[in-house]
Amino acid sequence: MKATNISRCRRFFRRLQTALMAFFLLAGISQIQAAQDQETLIKQGKYLAEIGDCVACHTPQGGRELSGGLPFETPFGIVYSTNITSDKETGIGHYSYRDFYRAMHEGISPDGNLYPAMPYTSYHLLTEQDTRALYAYFMNTKPVRQENKASEIGFPFNIRMGLKAWNLMNHKDGEFTPDPAKSDSWNRGSYLVNVLGHCGECHTPRDATFAMRPEAHFQGAVLDTFEASDITPQELNRQNWTHEDLRQLFTRGYSRKGTVFGGMYPVVYHSYSHLTEQDMRAVTSYLLDNEADIAEQPLTFNGHDKQAPGYNLYMGYCAGCHGQDGEGRPHVAPALAGNATLDRSSAFNAVSLLLNGIVSQHYNSTTSFYAMPAYADKFDDRQLTDLVNYMRTTWTSQKADIRLSAVAEIRINMKQSLH
Ligand code: HEC
Ligand code: HEC
Ligand code: HEC
Repeated sequence: MKATNISRCRRFFRRLQTALMAFFLLAGISQIQAAQDQETLIKQGKYLAEIGDCVACHTPQGGRELSGGLPFETPFGIVYSTNITSDKETGIGHYSYRDFYRAMHEGISPDGNLYPAMPYTSYHLLTEQDTRALYAYFMNTKPVRQENKASEIGFPFNIRMGLKAWNLMNHKDGEFTPDPAKSDSWNRGSYLVNVLGHCGECHTPRDATFAMRPEAHFQGAVLDTFEASDITPQELNRQNWTHEDLRQLFTRGYSRKGTVFGGMYPVVYHSYSHLTEQDMRAVTSYLLDNEADIAEQPLTFNGHDKQAPGYNLYMGYCAGCHGQDGEGRPHVAPALAGNATLDRSSAFNAVSLLLNGIVSQHYNSTTSFYAMPAYADKFDDRQLTDLVNYMRTTWTSQKADIRLSAVAEIRINMKQSLH
């Protein structure tokens, strides 16, 4: 071989070597990139799962996270949530992306139609991107081996085929479409509240077929022990909720307008206390239908009426914790002045919490209150009526218009639903 040929040959191999090195380097980088993308996706999915509150429903009392088995009473009977850990046999580790998509958007699992106790009726508007992130997260959770429990649904509702008909009637498919007349922040809030937060599942009244009534969106609904309040912008603004009040309620479970309890407690504890600052503002802007700051009015205290029959009851039983003038005591009990539970036309929650009390609740932050005692055995219906009317006229703009018969009815219904 001639010398020139040899050197050409060498040059060729050197070039090849450089090209190969560059190729492998790039391939390596893109692999690292892919792994990083996957990690970001999983992280996004974890956040979305928190805001969607999957843990609250899919974790049994005292059991392993996401392993299912929590009972849900529906008008048809008891349904148990399922194991959604990444376990391949008893969880959803064997799901393809398509399986997951159909469960979230159409309410159909590989085993058939899901009961709407699983809120796919809200999640179905999830964006494709968010569904992918959730899938990435759920395929990477800690696997827990735990068999699912069979539901206890009476005939004819135990036939999951029946749900197909329900879906055809009540369930529309699609993806969240922003309202072009509103800002990006408002639309983000709407998505976080209506789709992921599935707030309407509790706060929107249902019709005879158990479907949410869109025309009564967020107008409030009695669940069991408590009523999920009217949270329409009209009502929240009438009660003078500010962005800051809602932010405090959702991050630490109480604000100057009162505490959360009943079904609202897990929403704060597992879910909304994790909202980023930006998402929080989007949520409060949507709920108040107002992005501008809102002026804080002083909390209502109309002075005591010592002649009213409720006065002595309040001073005797309640003032020790809630304060002489209803101003509340830090770490003991919230203020009753301007309290949102009292400042509503319906006295359902006020009566119910006096009958049942509220267990001591703890939050991620250091905030916690005492328990609110139950008075079902201490007060008769007359005393309860007097107390509730006293609180309404003393600390809100509501009238003393709660009737004895209404209180008696709540007590009877409560007894029946709890036994
Ligand atoms: C309000 C309660 C509730 C919430 C919140 C909830 N689920 Fe469910 N989910 C259920 C119930 C109940 C079932 C079982 C329904 C049935 O058996 O028909 C279920 C079933 C499922 C299934 C089908 C499982 C299987 O075994 O095939 C998947 C997947 C699922 N949920 C995922 C999620 C994810 C992801 C989230 C959060 C974004 C979530 N769920 C939030 C109650 C809930
Ligand atoms: C599991 C049922 C349930 C879900 C889901 C739920 N709530 Fe509630 N919510 C309640 C109940 C019950 C109350 C009344 C008790 C109370 O005041 O905390 C309530 C009360 C409220 C209040 C008034 C609190 C007060 O102090 O008067 C606001 C605001 C609220 N919810 C917002 C939301 C938002 C936003 C979501 C969605 C992220 C949501 N809720 C989801 C059950 C629920
Ligand atoms: C041992 C202290 C204690 C006593 C006594 C007590 N409460 Fe409470 N009360 C609480 C606590 C603590 C809460 C909040 C519980 C929670 O949500 O975590 C509460 C909540 C309330 C609320 C709902 C406020 C809100 O957060 O929205 C009302 C109304 C109320 N109490 C009225 C009364 C009345 C009326 C009496 C007297 C018959 C009374 N309380 C006696 C501790 C007490």
